[in-house]
Order: sequence, then structure tokens, then C-alpha cells
Amino acid sequence: MLQLNSIDIKKQRKFVLVWGITFLIVFPLLITLGLLMRLNQGEEIQLGMDRFYTLMTLHGLGMAGVLYSMAFAALWYLIGTRHTKLNLGLGYFVYFVVLLGVIGLAYATLIGKFGAGWYLLYPLPFKGTNWPAWSTGLSIVSLILLGVAWIIGILHVVYALAKEYGGLTNLLGWQYLGKKNVQRELPPIVMITTISLVPGLIAYLAGAVFLFMNLFQHFEPALSFDALLLKNLAFFFGHTLVNITLYCCIGWVYALLPEFTGREWKTNKVLVYSWNATFVFILFAYFHHLYMDFAQPLALQYAGQFASYLSAIPATAITMFGVITQLYHSKIKWGIIPLTFLIGVAGWAIGGFSAVVDSTIAINKVLHNTLWVPAHFHTYMLTGVVLFIFGFLFYLSHTKEEQEKDKTAKIGFWLFVIGAHCFIATFYTGGMNSIPRRYADYKGIPINSTHTTGALLAQIAAICIGLLLIGLFIMYGSIFNKLRKGKNIPMVPSTNT
Ligand code: HEM
Repeated sequence: MLQLNSIDIKKQRKFVLVWGITFLIVFPLLITLGLLMRLNQGEEIQLGMDRFYTLMTLHGLGMAGVLYSMAFAALWYLIGTRHTKLNLGLGYFVYFVVLLGVIGLAYATLIGKFGAGWYLLYPLPFKGTNWPAWSTGLSIVSLILLGVAWIIGILHVVYALAKEYGGLTNLLGWQYLGKKNVQRELPPIVMITTISLVPGLIAYLAGAVFLFMNLFQHFEPALSFDALLLKNLAFFFGHTLVNITLYCCIGWVYALLPEFTGREWKTNKVLVYSWNATFVFILFAYFHHLYMDFAQPLALQYAGQFASYLSAIPATAITMFGVITQLYHSKIKWGIIPLTFLIGVAGWAIGGFSAVVDSTIAINKVLHNTLWVPAHFHTYMLTGVVLFIFGFLFYLSHTKEEQEKDKTAKIGFWLFVIGAHCFIATFYTGGMNSIPRRYADYKGIPINSTHTTGALLAQIAAICIGLLLIGLFIMYGSIFNKLRKGKNIPMVPSTNT
């Protein structure tokens, strides 16, 4: 266990609070964009096509970016206060570059009206657009800034950990697979951090290639690239980003849940095999986004099908089993922190299951580009990742006793969870009724029942979003109240380091 003095821990805590507060400001703003989109689809307001796609682009990119950044910052704090020293100067550099990228994106979309969606589907951002070329250029540069910041952050954390634990193979837990006794225990959070961040690095490098190709196209319109190659790069990047955000959060569930159950959660052979398998499969699962691209080689479509199934099983199964063994007869007191973790794991399982359903080729023929797609990723992001992040923020702001007694936080939490699941249910129902995704509204659909069902579901969704926002702000009240009063920082925080 790393020995840091209280001043260093306070500095790390201040750093993660800067991230936390930024997240708490940006998150409801991005939800508001989602609410506006649903109100437009429900024909309650008139945004117009241009504005809708502008908001959709900022919402998609913003949510994915802000959740990954917050998950990374939380891991940074836990790693940097428990397992290896991390350079705070570099941490703040990453923070400011990310902030710059976010401001650039907000300007390009809200002012420049850039509306090509998160994946900038080539050659969409360059051909027949209704926004000026500078906003395409600014979006690309802003995304490059984000990528550079994230790559620097990952390299620093993985390098520091590799130095501490004697190389990358040790971080992956391979020393557990040999016959020799393990000299130094590897905390699961360290292994999962590595297994999240290294594929992340590969994906960000692919994203960088994609973005630079787009930048060259921006400066030299005569260029022409292979659209399928660019789509592969974009989805490899996007799919992996969302997956590793989830895995980063799972890392701190392994580290923090034992503090509430009083049981150790250690690395062993089964854990190493499972997570290492996920490391490989995660890289190939994205092919399931390209089933409808018939020019894609057939072998890759099969690879997508198998990798999607296989990437979902080992890490998920082993984690669910671990959570059950942590909790079963543990006499845990159900404070807000373990509650967020448990319900977050449920969100992960439900969203993961519906993702696997959609990645099944026979089913994808029907559900492709219906609202089922946003349904599945909103499930594991909004009722998985977001809950894990709130669990972490409660951990930062509350003592163990406070989090047990905080009834306000629990009321906010349940309102949020109910609102979020009901909101997502409108997406699932839409998917099952063949309501297409990414439609600004459903007025142009010639089948009357599809039009009216889509609009009605969007209206119901708007009410659910109102409910989840009330829950969210109640949780904010509880967090800020405790932060204002201050709390004793635990110096020896974990049982399994
Ligand atoms: C209460 C919170 C949220 C609301 C109200 C909301 C609402 C929406 C809506 C209405 C759409 C458009 C769906 C369509 O017709 O295709 C959408 C798309 C999307 N949302 Fe959310 N969302 C929320 C949370 C999140 C979260 C937590 C994430 C995290 C990754 C996220 C990421 C996205 C992405 C990536 C898209 C797809 C954009 C695209 O197709 O280009 N959203 N959201």
C-alpha cells in the first residue's frame, strides 16, 4: 500500500473534486439537451432539423466524453492515493486540455451548428452540409485535443503502475498463472485499470488516425478516403470508449465494496483469466455495429458476433458472482454507497443483456437503427456508469456512518433510478415497435401508428426525465451539503490492498 502524507492525499482529493464538480455542472446540461430532443420527438416543441442534430451531436459526444473523463479521474484518485504516486501537475494538464476540447465542441455545435453526430460518418461532415466548414474543422480539432489529453493521462497511469508492479505482464496478473508463489499481491483495481486503459489507448490511437484523416480532408477537399475504413475506425474508437468507461467504474466497485461488506476481494487465477479474456474480446466486439455494411468482409461479421458474446460473458459473470459472494450473509448496512453499486451492477447486467440481444445477427436485422440501440447503451451508461460515479462521489463526500444515515440521498437516488429506468423503457418500447432512432420527429413516417406511438413514447419519456432530474438534484443537495461541512479523509482506506 502506498504511504502518502495527509497533504498529498488532500491535494489528490482536491483534484478529483475539481473533476467531480465539473461533471456535476455539465451532466444536467447534457440531460437537458436529451430532454429537448424527446420534447421535439413528442411534438411538444419545434426545434427544427438543424437544431435537433446539433443537440444530438453535442449530447452524444458530451455524455460519452464527460463520463469517461470522470471515470478516469476517479480511478486516478484511487490509484494515486493507494497504489502508486501520480503526477498532479500532469493531471491538471489533462483536465485543462479536456476542458478546452469540450468548449471547442460546444462552440462548434451550438454556435457553428455542426450536426454530423458523434461518429462524423464519412463523407457526411464534408458533403452537402448546412453548417460552415469552420465548425467541422473546429469539431475535429476539439476531438483531437480530447484524444491527446486522454492518451497522455492513460500513458502516465499505466507507466506509473508498471514501474510499481514490475511490468505490464504483472499488471495483467500473469504471475498468478504460473506455478510459483506470487510475491506481491495485485489489487483487482490495478488489473482492471490496466485492462480498461490499454485497449482504450489502442482505440484512441485508431481514433487519432480517423480524426487526422478527417482533418486532411478538411484542408484538402480533393482527397477521398475509403468510407468503410473510416467507419471501422470510428466505431472501434466509440465502442471501445464506452466499454472501457464501464470497466473503469467496475475497477472501483472491486476496491470499495469490500469496505462495506468487510470481506476481501482478491485477485486469483479465475479473475485473471476472465479479465484477460475480456481484454482480447473487447477489441473485436465493435464489428457488430457494421452488420448492415454489406461491403464488410463476411469473416469480420462472424468475428463481431462471437466477440460480442464472448466479451460480455467472462468479466460480467465473474463480477456478478463476486458481488453476490461479497453480499451474501455479509450483514452489510445498506447505506447509499453500496446501494449505488448494487443497482449500478444491475443496470450493467440489464444493458449488457440487451446489447447482446442486439448483437445477434438474426435479431439485429430487425432492431438495427431502431430505438432499441439507444435503449441498451443508455441502460448501462445512465443506470450503470452514472450510478457508479455517484457511488464514488458519495464516497468522497460522506463518512461511512453518514452514508448509512443519509435518507435524503436515498430518496433522490430512488427517484433517479425509477425515472431513469422508465425513461429507458420508452426507448425499448420504441425499438420493439420499430420506431427508428435519430429521427428529429416522426411526422414524416407514412405509417400512422408508428408516428403516433413514437410521439406518445417521447412525451412519456419527457415526464420520466423530469422525475430523474428531481432525484438528481436531491442527490446533489446531499453531496454538496456534506462537502460544505467537510469530512475526515480515510488514511488507510481499503481492506484489499
Ligand atoms: C437522462 C439522461 C439522458 C437523456 C434524456 C438522453 C436522451 C437522448 C435522446 C433523446 C437521444 C436521441 C435518441 C434517438 O432518437 O436516436 C439520445 C442519444 C444519445 N445519447 Fe442520450 N440521453 C441521456 C443520457 C445519456 C447518457 C448517460 C449517455 C452516455 C453515453 C448518452 C449518450 C447518448 C448517445 C451516444 C446518443 C446517440 C447520439 C447519436 O445517435 O449520434 N445519453 N439521448
